[in-house]
Amino acid sequence: MSEPTILRTQVGIIGGGPSGLLLSHLLRLSGIDNTVLELRDREYTVARVRAGVLEHDAVDLLTSAGLGERIAREGLKHQGIYLQFAGERHHVDFSELIDRDIWVYGQQEVMKDLIAAHDAAGTPARYEISDAQPQDLLTDAPSIRYTENGEKFELRCDFVVGADGFHGVARPSIPADQSAVHEREYHFAWLGILAHVAPSTDELIYSLHERGFAMHSMRSNKVSRLYLQVEPDDDIENWSDDRIWDELDIRLRVPGWQLERGEIFEKSITPMRSFVSEPMSYGRMHLVGDAAHIVPPTGAKGLNQAIADVALLHNGLVDHFRSGNSAGLEAYSATSVERVWKTQYFSTYMTRMLHRFHGTDDAEFDYQVQLGQLRQLISSRHAMAALAELYTGLPMPKLH
Ligand code: FAD
Ligand code: DHB
Repeated sequence: MSEPTILRTQVGIIGGGPSGLLLSHLLRLSGIDNTVLELRDREYTVARVRAGVLEHDAVDLLTSAGLGERIAREGLKHQGIYLQFAGERHHVDFSELIDRDIWVYGQQEVMKDLIAAHDAAGTPARYEISDAQPQDLLTDAPSIRYTENGEKFELRCDFVVGADGFHGVARPSIPADQSAVHEREYHFAWLGILAHVAPSTDELIYSLHERGFAMHSMRSNKVSRLYLQVEPDDDIENWSDDRIWDELDIRLRVPGWQLERGEIFEKSITPMRSFVSEPMSYGRMHLVGDAAHIVPPTGAKGLNQAIADVALLHNGLVDHFRSGNSAGLEAYSATSVERVWKTQYFSTYMTRMLHRFHGTDDAEFDYQVQLGQLRQLISSRHAMAALAELYTGLPMPKLH
């Protein structure tokens, strides 16, 4: 068998999603050489429709890294959200409560901005690589073996980063007896659509309805994003466009308000899970984003937590390479995991408060408790401020 071609970089990053590309971009700005290895082609990585909300500090961080120009121009700054239940819609005004806001700006747009920055710097990811395998992680000379265009390579580096999402290879390369996995599956999924129609709302609507959760979000003044709680094993083929609009209409209806319909150009069903694998470091490999943890999407936290991981790891790597100080890297996993559990807490809280737990013995009782919880929430400034604080985001590490 032929020997692999040896390549060399300081940080080898597996995965060219938002986590991998952002870390690569930040490291380059800090003068640290790195290479991103991505399984799929570039178009595929941009075409995935996912998150829509960026926290206040996430936008500040992207802006400080030169990625904020289009967010400022095309992003939609939102002051709060609507919570809806029992046919009533209530505004939770983050700006008024705690003087913070959020931005609606799709993950696809973040990806386009990152790819444009990489292209401008002449540092695109290596796309369509396969068989990535981290090795020698407990030594000072780890590497990643991979195949590109049928040729074998070994990328030698000082550190390996697993930014390859939930189904990647980095996390499974940690021996099972060296990590703990905490997991919860939900008995429902989200059907999400994108439609060519102006949003029927100024703020995002989170609605608890007897028939299940529904949400109205948006991508621009011309494109709406909406979600429906569905059965976990439901098939998108069961959902004609008319059926989707009819169901959204029922679950989002309030007196005097109309949901505008438009052409649906994307629809898919996403399972919901909570997942944390810790520690997030193993020898010279560190995990960021969905490679280490997944939250149910109700709190809009997945991408924001990934950005926080990346900022923290960037800082640890910068300290290591600039001054030989490895304290940040050594603390990376514990510091990040602590934030991850706060994020899990908020995502679980939003999910439990707003979904119907159909099919469980306590479903009816739980529904009444949820209504009680929502009524208490909207009648208490303190409770709404607590929600606002978590929704607009936990503190994000400032870049070194
Ligand atoms: P990913 O985006 O998963 O990127 C990982 C990258 O690694 C991918 O490009 C993948 O192709 C690549 N890769 C995988 N395996 C390998 C390999 N073996 N070798 C090389 N490369 C590899 N969050 C929200 O806040 N709101 C939402 O509405 C929302 N919706 C979501 C819908 C779906 C279907 C999913 C899966 C997630 C959703 N999320 C949402 C979460 C959010 O999108 C993620 O938290 C975010 O994408 C994490 O980014 P990441 O770069 O860590 O992982
Ligand atoms: C969007 C997704 C979320 O999970 C959420 O909580 C808010 C908005 C979105 O895709 O726009």
